[in-house]
Amino acid sequence: MLHYLVSKKFLARILWFAILEINCVLTQECISKDYGNGGTICVCTDHHCDTVPSLGKIPLNSYVTYTSNKDGLRFKKTVQKFKITRTQLPKGYHYQECLSEIHHEYEICGENQNKNKYSGIYKNWDPSPSKSIIIDRSKTFQEILGFGGAFSDATAINIKTMSVSLQAQLLKSYFSEDGIEYNLCRVPMGATDFSTHVYSYIDSNTNEVNCIDPALGNFKLTKEDLSYKIPVILEANRLSSRKLQLFTSTWVAPKHFKENNNYRGSMGFIKKGLYQLWADYFQKFLDCYKDNGVNFWGITTGNEPYVANVQMEGIPGVLWFPDDHGQWIRENLVPTLRNSVHRNIKVITLDDQRPLLLAVLPKTLTNGTEHCVHGVGLHWYLDQDNNTYLLDEFHQRYPNLFLLATEGCEGDWVNNIRLGAWDRAERYAWDIAQDLNHWVTGWVDWNMVLDLDGGPRVAGPVDSPIIFNKTANEFYKQPTYYALGHFSKFIPRGSVRIYTTQCDGDDLTDIVAFKRPDGLIVVVFVNRGDHQVRRVFIDIKRGEIDISASPHSITTILY
Ligand SMILES: *[C@@H]1O[C@H](CO)[C@@H](O)[C@H](O)[C@H]1NC(C)=O
Ligand SMILES: *[C@@H]1O[C@H](CO)[C@@H](O)[C@H](O)[C@H]1NC(C)=O
Ligand SMILES: *[C@@H]1O[C@H](CO)[C@@H](O)[C@H](O)[C@H]1NC(C)=O
Repeated sequence: MLHYLVSKKFLARILWFAILEINCVLTQECISKDYGNGGTICVCTDHHCDTVPSLGKIPLNSYVTYTSNKDGLRFKKTVQKFKITRTQLPKGYHYQECLSEIHHEYEICGENQNKNKYSGIYKNWDPSPSKSIIIDRSKTFQEILGFGGAFSDATAINIKTMSVSLQAQLLKSYFSEDGIEYNLCRVPMGATDFSTHVYSYIDSNTNEVNCIDPALGNFKLTKEDLSYKIPVILEANRLSSRKLQLFTSTWVAPKHFKENNNYRGSMGFIKKGLYQLWADYFQKFLDCYKDNGVNFWGITTGNEPYVANVQMEGIPGVLWFPDDHGQWIRENLVPTLRNSVHRNIKVITLDDQRPLLLAVLPKTLTNGTEHCVHGVGLHWYLDQDNNTYLLDEFHQRYPNLFLLATEGCEGDWVNNIRLGAWDRAERYAWDIAQDLNHWVTGWVDWNMVLDLDGGPRVAGPVDSPIIFNKTANEFYKQPTYYALGHFSKFIPRGSVRIYTTQCDGDDLTDIVAFKRPDGLIVVVFVNRGDHQVRRVFIDIKRGEIDISASPHSITTILY
């Protein structure tokens, strides 16, 4: 009997230690490294990779903050009490609709000179030293579709080149609850500039018998799909606790489908007689992926269709005139999809730069094409503080079409990978917050992993939130990984943006707020300045949050 009691106590103690142990294992700290680029990276190896502290249950009358900054904090978690409980809005506050500075065409023509003119009031409701920001959950805007990156050939090849345990660290970092929980990802339909060579599905030289369609010139998937992308996607999906949704985009058409008979080059239009075959090609790709266990939520109508002729040398692409593109979408692509098992797929058009929203896209959307598509994809490369009005105005004109950021990356061909550069995290956070404050429903990054050469690639290198060092079998999480994570991790699909009195970045801060499906409120607060910034967030349903954000920091607040 005595013996029994002792052993029970002993067992309890072991159990207690085991729980402590698990708690320690749960959060892994960043092993940081400074390459002298104004910030640090976190090193991940077979045996170690930093994780995000879990949110857990938030104590009564408290809020949780997660902070990352230039000085090296990475998802540093704190729990704090609300300062004051309020039941009334401060005197002088009134709801002021967020309007961008408008540069209308008709303004230039001298009409409506003052219509919708930016007032500036909403920006600074309270200009006192510790500026107050009202969070008003009763005013709601767009619903979030998700956040993620692209399973490019380069991404999948880099992942499959890692040791098996490093592959697991990488996929957990992006997809699991230990990581930043991506849930909306892009899958190129074939080659892009981030492939080892340019190919289409008709000149594939795999010997495997896979999904062959003689009507399409012996369409078949390639080694990139079967050995790299599909296995990586299936594993990412297995690790995701949120439903992983995918959309696909094409860069490359078979050479003989194009007027210039070339994967690249100027004037690369699809031949008029082959419009239906080009739509069938899309359907066949969806069929083949489905046969391999991968289903798509969405499809874009082609990567950068309106700039494919002026693109930098080497990037493969298909060029369209906007009205021809509209006709192909309306008469070929959409009817083909609607008559197939993929009839519920979301069709996303544009998949190109923000300034084309009003300059070009309306020409594509005429004659009913507007009603054939569900949304509009945006690339970030020409985003500025002064062209957000295009998002607002597009939303006003086409309220039924969602806006989704479908590609962005840091670095150009000359100034590509900069390990640890915090300024790049700030550009991500600035762009994501700006998009979200102007009706955009999610943000999808470009390559998830590149090697130290910014590849594999057939054209110029760029930067990526994770860089793989093949020689050392380790990868480096760049500041941009954390910038994206401050949104993707905490703003799940189905969250709705809510009003704050700072709807747009002032010179150095960005603020955006959401109500999540589980009822929590999330506020992302970016300080891009060299000084500490104090803000008092007022939510009359809960109280006041007094926060001093360190220089060059991103803070996510949840309550
Ligand atoms: C729309 O349809 C009309 C009538 O069929 C045609 O004349 C016009 O060119 C079409 N416009 C576009 C942009 O496709
Ligand atoms: C918008 O901002 C960019 C960069 O700050 C600048 O180059 C451009 O001239 C501005 N455009 C307008 C219309 O003000
Ligand atoms: C990559 O790993 C090799 C081997 O450990 C090392 O010599 C090299 O410095 C690493 N590169 C970077 C950029 O850290």
